Amino acid sequence: MNIILLGAPGAGKGTQASRISDAYALPHISTGDIFRENIKNETEIGLLAKSYIDKGQLVPDEVTCKIVENRIVKPDCEKGYMLDGFPRTIAQAEALDKVAKIDLVINMDVDFALIMDRLCGRRVCKDCGESYHVTTLNGATTCSRCGGELYQRKDDNPETVESRLAVYSQQTAPLIEYYKAKGLLFNVLSNGTPEETFEMIAKKLDSFSK
Ligand code: AP5
Ligand code: MG
Repeated sequence: MNIILLGAPGAGKGTQASRISDAYALPHISTGDIFRENIKNETEIGLLAKSYIDKGQLVPDEVTCKIVENRIVKPDCEKGYMLDGFPRTIAQAEALDKVAKIDLVINMDVDFALIMDRLCGRRVCKDCGESYHVTTLNGATTCSRCGGELYQRKDDNPETVESRLAVYSQQTAPLIEYYKAKGLLFNVLSNGTPEETFEMIAKKLDSFSK
């Protein structure tokens, strides 16, 4: 099963991807994580991506599409995969259509008023990428999954979040109609707790795989 997780910044894509990946043994492919890894390793792609990510803009389609095309042909994707944060433009979706057959698009629908707090309070594990929120960490500075150190993403500040939201509305939100027209869209309201959201997704995935 090949799945796409669609949604605004802070909708909870990474949070749910981690749960789905554990429960359904699907590799989690996050273009944001791939770019951050490249930035950490100071690769050519990393240097390019950083100039866009720091401003809350999208990395050019050609670069992003090539990364995904190369990733989904790896052996671990043979039985399916989950894309988180890709596609993010109509051009990316059209490029993906040429190389993949998508079975389901989960659109995580979140109230914009919740996003700023979610993102500015997010802490991420340096090692496994797990996301936390300061309000539930009780002062912990390490990951409860793997023990890695937690950090705050550079693009999780009010100014950059504003521009990420504007970019989402302009360039990514049109994908909701794109996938609806293809009959692939499943809407999940993600204003509730991560557990509530996961329950709704799991119900859909269970019925889907039967
Ligand atoms: P990316 O890393 O994909 O960031 P994003 O889309 O902005 O999404 P986030 O990771 O910020 O949010 P999320 O939905 O994963 O939320 P999370 O689960 O962590 O992309 C970063 C940048 O890379 C882009 O801006 C762009 O520059 C570039 N890029 C990436 N892909 C690209 C592409 N395809 N094309 C071009 N450029 C690309 O949750 C957020 C917080 O909320 C956490 O603190 C979490 O604990 C909390 N939380 C989650 N769920 C809940 C809940 N239900 N209730 C309460 N709190 C919750
Ligand atoms: Mg994410």
